[in-house]
Amino acid sequence: MIDSDRYGPWALIVGGSEGVGAGFARRLAVAGIKLVLVARKEGPLAELAAELQEAGAEVRTISVDLARPDALDRVRAVTDDVEIGLMIYNAGANSVRGNFVELPAEVTRAVIQISVVGQSEFARHYGAQMCARGHGGMILAGSLSSYMGAPSLAAYTASKAFSRIFGEALWAECAPLGVDVLHLVIGFTATPAMERLHIDTTTAQDPEDVAQEALANLTNGPVWIAGGEGNLETAIRRSVIADRGATIRQLATPSREAIVRK
Ligand SMILES: NC(=O)c1ccc[n+]([C@@H]2O[C@H](COP(=O)([O-])OP(=O)(O)OC[C@H]3O[C@@H](n4cnc5c(N)ncnc54)[C@H](OP(=O)(O)O)[C@@H]3O)[C@@H](O)[C@H]2O)c1
Repeated sequence: MIDSDRYGPWALIVGGSEGVGAGFARRLAVAGIKLVLVARKEGPLAELAAELQEAGAEVRTISVDLARPDALDRVRAVTDDVEIGLMIYNAGANSVRGNFVELPAEVTRAVIQISVVGQSEFARHYGAQMCARGHGGMILAGSLSSYMGAPSLAAYTASKAFSRIFGEALWAECAPLGVDVLHLVIGFTATPAMERLHIDTTTAQDPEDVAQEALANLTNGPVWIAGGEGNLETAIRRSVIADRGATIRQLATPSREAIVRK
């Protein structure tokens, strides 16, 4: 079980209302860690908070859109009076696909704001506090997509690559200061966000298992690839250097049409 002295008394889950984020919340609550949950939709936030509070957890929620540049300030309004010992930045799935030059600028701006600007700003703010205290942890959600640029997902795949490389550097900087950083590479996972896109998730990983794996490997950074050997092999295949153009055509994430339920 996660050590509440090292990663408590409070955990902040950015994208903590459903899917992998909810999986984190349930496991941390069992360990006696208090929770701040962030998401946009009030309904799932309130539902999860009620479930956790019924089981005895202390929970705060806040509805914030991370695509907005004032997101950190809004979240700070409910965290500045508590000690955040664990910061999990989970939000960031892609919901709009299309050729980069054809997508509206605000679509790609939001992807970059959430997964590049937002993730690094949250890591700076909460990471600085943890490093000053000499303990804590940060989990940054990424994707198998980060190992290769994929057509129709240019900003998404690039932003996840940023997160992975950023997480590696942060891991090395924070480790001597007592703070564990883990970049979590997530593969195909049966989250509500995927269900809403009508994607067939029968072969996908259970989000509760992804959260469990991540917490169990928080000290095994800089990068943890969830989902076992198959996802590890995919990451290795997508990392090839030679003949990369041909490999991208062959191995890049398929178009939505190829994976949407018929
Ligand atoms: N599911 C997969 O197959 C898969 C595969 C590879 C990587 N991943 C990664 O896993 C992480 C979780 O993905 P997911 O499928 O659960 O979907 P997601 O859309 O990232 O949702 C996860 C949580 O974040 C919140 N969220 C999303 N956008 C937000 C925003 N703009 N502002 C505030 N909160 C926001 C969601 O609640 P609200 O919608 O109410 O805001 C939810 O609580 C992401 O980083 C994603 O890139 C997922």
